[in-house]
Amino acid sequence: MTYSDLNTPLRTIMTPGPVEVDPRVLRAMSTPVVGQFDPAFTKIMNEVMEMLRHIFQTKNKWAFPVDGTSRSGMEALLCSIIEPGDKILVPIFGRFGYLLTEICERHGAEVHTMECTWGDVFDPADVIKEIKRVHPKIVALVHGETSTGRLQPLEKIGAACREMNVLFTVDGVASIGGTDLKVDEWFIDGLVGGTQKCLSVPSGMAPITYNERIEEIITARKKVERGISTAEDRKQELERDHPIIRSNYLDLSMLQDYWSSRRLNHHTEATTMLYALREGLRIVLEEGLENRFNRHKFHENALVSGLEAMGLTLFGSPSCKLPTVTCVNIPEGVDGESVRQMLLQEFGIEIASSFGPLQGKIWRIGTMGYSCRKENILFTLGALEAVLIRHGVRVHTGRALQAALDSYSLIHREPVGQ
Ligand SMILES: Cc1ncc(COP(=O)(O)O)c(C=O)c1O
Repeated sequence: MTYSDLNTPLRTIMTPGPVEVDPRVLRAMSTPVVGQFDPAFTKIMNEVMEMLRHIFQTKNKWAFPVDGTSRSGMEALLCSIIEPGDKILVPIFGRFGYLLTEICERHGAEVHTMECTWGDVFDPADVIKEIKRVHPKIVALVHGETSTGRLQPLEKIGAACREMNVLFTVDGVASIGGTDLKVDEWFIDGLVGGTQKCLSVPSGMAPITYNERIEEIITARKKVERGISTAEDRKQELERDHPIIRSNYLDLSMLQDYWSSRRLNHHTEATTMLYALREGLRIVLEEGLENRFNRHKFHENALVSGLEAMGLTLFGSPSCKLPTVTCVNIPEGVDGESVRQMLLQEFGIEIASSFGPLQGKIWRIGTMGYSCRKENILFTLGALEAVLIRHGVRVHTGRALQAALDSYSLIHREPVGQ
């Protein structure tokens, strides 16, 4: 049997992830593989740790990627600090709050949730009130909720957690590299980012950072280091005051020994993915965090102007809109999936649908990382208008692109970057 050469279509990816990979990252991925303890490689590991600290805006010692998709980072962080019966508060304002809840429950936590309407975020005062009532060990919260396109303010919640000696862990998967996220200044104890969104690196690694408050817990749960564990070791481990972390793959006490100068063998590092992450981080730092955040806002403005000029309305409260995801209400009587399909088939553009109560009600358009470019915004607006006309929607013909062009020319010059 023979198979053809790998030949994927070139797409314009305007989803909330995965997005288009920066060509520089693709080139870095063809760099020859070296052994994971080769000094040439351990140097790259150290560089990635240093670059991550800049991007996370932290002085934390620990900042490294977990091999696996973003949820592997979330699960590594949570399973390494949750001991069975620990109370955790998860404020839910979209799909990924449910993911946090599920991870915590699977690791034996007593999870308390609070919910707000999808399309909104929490007033920090309400979360703080709930922390005072529940007295959790951990608050686990999403920063940029891609399912609803909302951005939860974190600073006040972080400060309250620190004051009450509660650990604050955050899912920054969709916000890191696209919108401001200050780990130290906002009192975040543990944070997980994503590669496949605003960093424009393929999915497959989860950069994380955590401080000494978390390190202390992890260290207390460390396995005895004997290389192999006998039945007797395992029996004793089950009886310890602070039980060992139940996952081997995601045990941060072992991962940190691999990422420290000790370089204790754990897994076989995904060398090619680390090359990709290194290049993605280098691009972010070359552009500069502030420039990059401004660039995301700049293209978001043009997209929103175009959509509104076309006569479409946006979903969700504008005061907490996530700059990297724009949610559009699907006009009454329109088959949202048919529109998405036509965009893909006729124009090679991918936009996203949503989940749960929002399925069939909104489209989500991502403006993230390398995908967040002027030509992509203009192409998407033009194509969407054409497809909507084909679906019988009475749009304000011709206005979307003009509004977007106006938005671009109002500012005259694109921010540094792209
Ligand atoms: C906010 C948020 N958190 C977590 C995840 C889970 O990431 P992954 O699918 O890479 O495991 C996603 C994925 O889209 C996300 O948008």
